[in-house]
Amino acid sequence: MARITSVRGRLLYNSRGSKTIEIDVISDNTHLGRVCAPSGASVGKHEAVSFPDNRPEKSLEIINANEKKFVGLDPSNLKLIHDTIRTIDSTANYSKIGGSVAFALTIASIDSAAKSLRIPIFKLLSNDMELRFPFPLGNILGGGAHAGPGTPDIQEILVCATGSKTIREAIEFNLTIHKEVGKILAKKDPSFTNGRGDEGGWAPKLKNDEALETCARACEQLGFTLGKEVSLGVDFASSTQWNEKEKKYIYDRAGLENTPEEQIEFASDIIKKYKLAYAEDAVHEEAFDDMAVLAKKFPNVLITGDDLLVTNTEILKRATKVKACNAAILKVNQAGSLYDALEFAKEATKNNIKIITSHRSGESVDSHISHIGIATKSKMLKVGVVGGERIAKLNELLRISEYDLIRGMAEI
Ligand code: PGA
Ligand code: ZN
Repeated sequence: MARITSVRGRLLYNSRGSKTIEIDVISDNTHLGRVCAPSGASVGKHEAVSFPDNRPEKSLEIINANEKKFVGLDPSNLKLIHDTIRTIDSTANYSKIGGSVAFALTIASIDSAAKSLRIPIFKLLSNDMELRFPFPLGNILGGGAHAGPGTPDIQEILVCATGSKTIREAIEFNLTIHKEVGKILAKKDPSFTNGRGDEGGWAPKLKNDEALETCARACEQLGFTLGKEVSLGVDFASSTQWNEKEKKYIYDRAGLENTPEEQIEFASDIIKKYKLAYAEDAVHEEAFDDMAVLAKKFPNVLITGDDLLVTNTEILKRATKVKACNAAILKVNQAGSLYDALEFAKEATKNNIKIITSHRSGESVDSHISHIGIATKSKMLKVGVVGGERIAKLNELLRISEYDLIRGMAEI
């Protein structure tokens, strides 16, 4: 059994150019596990905080001061690593040490352990022999908190090759559609700068409906039938629009002011018109009952909670009680440690809630998430389409396909 021989943090930068932390865990003076923490722009109220007082430097100090607590531990014992972190920070949202530390330290330990055992991370995280590839779900056009003024209010229009039989085809279809959307945008507006948002989706000056039309047209022009070979999805990220005082969703760019009832209609119309396979955060993060209305109305669509659930097992339990959703985003850094996130995945699976493992808008080129998506039996892996930090996760899926251990694509 390997033993951790050193733990070291350093300050680096994420894909948005913001400071973050990377942690190296070395076992037996040989096996390097290295993980850089991501961060979000549309952050849920109840997420783990990234850094204490927003200061990565503080996280770094704490981790380096506590190295000895981890030296000698078995890096594959995720619970032990998690519990040891909890001896330093027992706050619910990791406000003392920073969720980024919990994230990077637990995944780096597993990375190191997998290397010592010479097995891929997904094998270490799951003994299941029936693992499948999640369908890549990628942002092709967006706005909201991920892009500047003039772009759609809707944060993300996503594509997923729901009819693909192989992981390579699923990735290729997403890439082709992203390119086609770019071509349509350039044709439509010769002044379009090829601008892209934080996750690599195009960021044109378009209203919501024009943006959705453009994406649907791109799929059709390529000969795809929506809902068959490929499907569209939307992350409404509705907490961004929700105005608690006025009790309305304010769409500044589209000029809409939706009451909660109108918001349900607004989302329902989009789901129906574009035959969406996936609808995320169609209402704000505390509107469990409104989400339940959508989940009931669209049992065959992944009615997904992101800000709604923030990868928090207790919140998920509340949501399942009222049947608020049939799918859940799993973002490890929302929960904090990988242990927390896997507990969340267990609870979701137990309740028949489908898992979508997801990146953050501020990312690194790490690709551990691809293994986590497989090990948690995620139906989809939401990691974008283009951009070095997004393609790194997709390329890892292709490398994993060489192992010949995974039996085809997930069943959605
Ligand atoms: P974030 O957003 O990573 O910027 O928080 C992504 C999402 O809302 O899914
Ligand atoms: Zn989201």
